Amino acid sequence: MLRIQTALPERYTNATPDELAEWTARAKAALGDRLLILGHHYQRDEIMRFADARGDSLALSRLAADRHDSRFIVFCGVHFMAEAADILTSQDQQVILPDLNAGCSMADMADLDAVEEAWDELAAVVDIERVIPVTYINSAASLKAFVGSHGGAVCTSSNARAVLTWALNPQNPSERRGDKVLFFPDQHLGRNTGYQLGWTGDDMRVWDPRLPLGGLDDREVKDAPLLLWRGHCSVHQRFQPSHVESFRAEHPGAMVVVHPECSHEVVALADSAGSTDFIIRTVDEAPPGTVIGVGTEIHLVKRLDDEHPDKSVLSLDPLVCPCSTMSRIDSAHLCWILEGLARGDVYNQITVDPDTAKWARVALDRMLAIT
Ligand code: 13P
Ligand code: SF4
Repeated sequence: MLRIQTALPERYTNATPDELAEWTARAKAALGDRLLILGHHYQRDEIMRFADARGDSLALSRLAADRHDSRFIVFCGVHFMAEAADILTSQDQQVILPDLNAGCSMADMADLDAVEEAWDELAAVVDIERVIPVTYINSAASLKAFVGSHGGAVCTSSNARAVLTWALNPQNPSERRGDKVLFFPDQHLGRNTGYQLGWTGDDMRVWDPRLPLGGLDDREVKDAPLLLWRGHCSVHQRFQPSHVESFRAEHPGAMVVVHPECSHEVVALADSAGSTDFIIRTVDEAPPGTVIGVGTEIHLVKRLDDEHPDKSVLSLDPLVCPCSTMSRIDSAHLCWILEGLARGDVYNQITVDPDTAKWARVALDRMLAIT
């Protein structure tokens, strides 16, 4: 989705990194407890040094929901995260995204029109009351609201398993809420979680929103407990099984950990898969001397390597690119935002309209209650 970020004043574009750091620190100190800076793990180091708290999507949602005392929440992450924070905070808190162009290409792969169309098509084939919509947190607030108003829940990479168990409970059918989940927008997280819960490839069908009935026939739609929206993360989809194989050949005995937005073929070859917080814990807990190949965004991989001089933390793909939208948040934008706040000027506030926020909150609260 296109959002227009105004050009920064020359004060910021012409400043040196040291000047930006000094001005940011001064503005942050002036704002004191009124300010909370949240940093997702994929942010640049120049941003993370100013973050009051770091986390994965679940941890940052919880922090936003729990910090009632901060007037301004500057969210160093991407747009859907700032929207979730706005939904979970109170009316007198303002959530700010330092660069409005910090979106998520995966979140843009599902929109409300396409999901409503898919829902109508599904209703013509199955009992729609028995279909539970589940959206990955990497989605627009309008989709979270759709899910909330149709009996579903949000999930993150930390709790997708718990949310799918809540919806379909494959181990205990008497406790299931429905017969089928429409999972969007990331097919890979859905598939990797489905395999973890014991479903097979035939139980999971890809729903292609560009094709009639998602490109499936009536029987496939009726039989599959999991319908996976055809969406992906372009950063994580770059990782290939050949990367894991070459890495293991080059580093015998190495450990491999990947994010569940990677394809199932990659996850199957890894030692473990999980959210960014999980990846950090895995590296923290590895014995000294371990070589660890990581399949996730490069800023996090490099930071882990820097913070663990006794281990070797490497990207599985030597050419891996950063998440270009996360990288939009840089020290110039953060400084501009904080100096504005210190003067009383609020730029780039993210607001979700009250009706959307009401239903999106239902879906987010269900997720927080499940996990
Ligand atoms: P985490 O919730 O694991 O931090 O993932 C967010 C994300 O966008 C991964 O690409
Ligand atoms: Fe979106 Fe992928 Fe970037 Fe995560 S890494 S914010 S899923 S584009």
